[in-house]
Amino acid sequence: MSAPSISSPPVHVAVTGAAGQIGYSLLFRIASGAALGPERPVVLHLVEIEPAMKALEGVVMELDDCAFPLLAGVETTTDLAAGFDGVSVALLVGSVPRKAGMERKDLLGINGGIFKPQGRAIAQNAAPDVRVLVVGNPCNTNCLIARSNAPEVPAERWFAMTRLDKRAGVAVDQVTRVGVWGNHSATQFPDFENALIGGRPAEEVVADRGWLEGEFLASVQRRGAAVIEARGLSSAASAASAAIDSVASILGPTAPGDFVSVAVASRGEYGVPEGLQFGFPVRSDGSAWEVVEGLGHSGFASERIKVTTDELLEERAEVTALLA
Ligand code: NAD
Ligand code: LMR
Repeated sequence: MSAPSISSPPVHVAVTGAAGQIGYSLLFRIASGAALGPERPVVLHLVEIEPAMKALEGVVMELDDCAFPLLAGVETTTDLAAGFDGVSVALLVGSVPRKAGMERKDLLGINGGIFKPQGRAIAQNAAPDVRVLVVGNPCNTNCLIARSNAPEVPAERWFAMTRLDKRAGVAVDQVTRVGVWGNHSATQFPDFENALIGGRPAEEVVADRGWLEGEFLASVQRRGAAVIEARGLSSAASAASAAIDSVASILGPTAPGDFVSVAVASRGEYGVPEGLQFGFPVRSDGSAWEVVEGLGHSGFASERIKVTTDELLEERAEVTALLA
């Protein structure tokens, strides 16, 4: 096999909260080429708040010590304009994680305010092709806040990470066409009705509708809380891995016949109110994406999708003051 050519210009990638636990799993994988491919050098823009800058210095030392051939530069900053300057990919991770007993939306009051100035700074400083993935919770509504404050950046460039939910439920190669609908929260609906296992309808293979509606659904909805309960900290390595895969899915084509899970700005598909940052089944051709239309849902699924839609509408109402 010939050695990869790494002569292409570097992509500038911003990561906020870079000294946090997700950052610690994420940066090394981006630097090794996992997100953007083995031929694409990257320059990392690591954005933190002042109290974490010392820890970030240590992370940068470790990045240096890894001597990644694709890592063309690392910049650290607390300044949003510098952090997002010229970036084509922005991963908005920096924010407070929940503790046991909290729902993700309980973080809105603490975290929501972070995303307004970040949205503005992205609009004013990022590269014209910027794509933004919001990981910080509650990620759908935080993404809505950032996007709303950056109207110059087209709505289709904003994503919130719901991919981990698919992971938590049914992450095996044989399972395809899993859409996670709605909010990254306990109301999300992992759509087993349209999923395939080994090319056959999942419902037919599992042959236990009661389990799918009950235990399966609840375990996916509660997976994040279960990890917190066990670890005392929220998921980090799996979250970083899901972020890498989300970037790769957004920038690369989706396998024929499959789709991926990510929250995008609704254009009214399936009756979801326009503008909500909503988890949909999405297909990408490598430059543009579309929500997969025409999937059928039972009354049970439609009711679940309504519940998660209503929750996102409530969250939106709660953050009106942060929307532009
Ligand atoms: P962490 O506390 O380990 O790290 C967060 C980092 O963000 C800290 O280093 C902190 O200094 C930094 N930070 C805080 N405010 C900031 C700001 N305004 N600008 C820049 N940086 C800032 O937390 P973590 O475990 O890395 O989780 C980060 C976020 O990701 C949390 O909100 C968590 O709930 C969320 N999360 C989302 C998913 C998902 O699937 N969407 C999965 C896991 C975690
Ligand atoms: C997760 O899904 O693991 C994250 O959103 C963290 C959390 O708070 O559950």
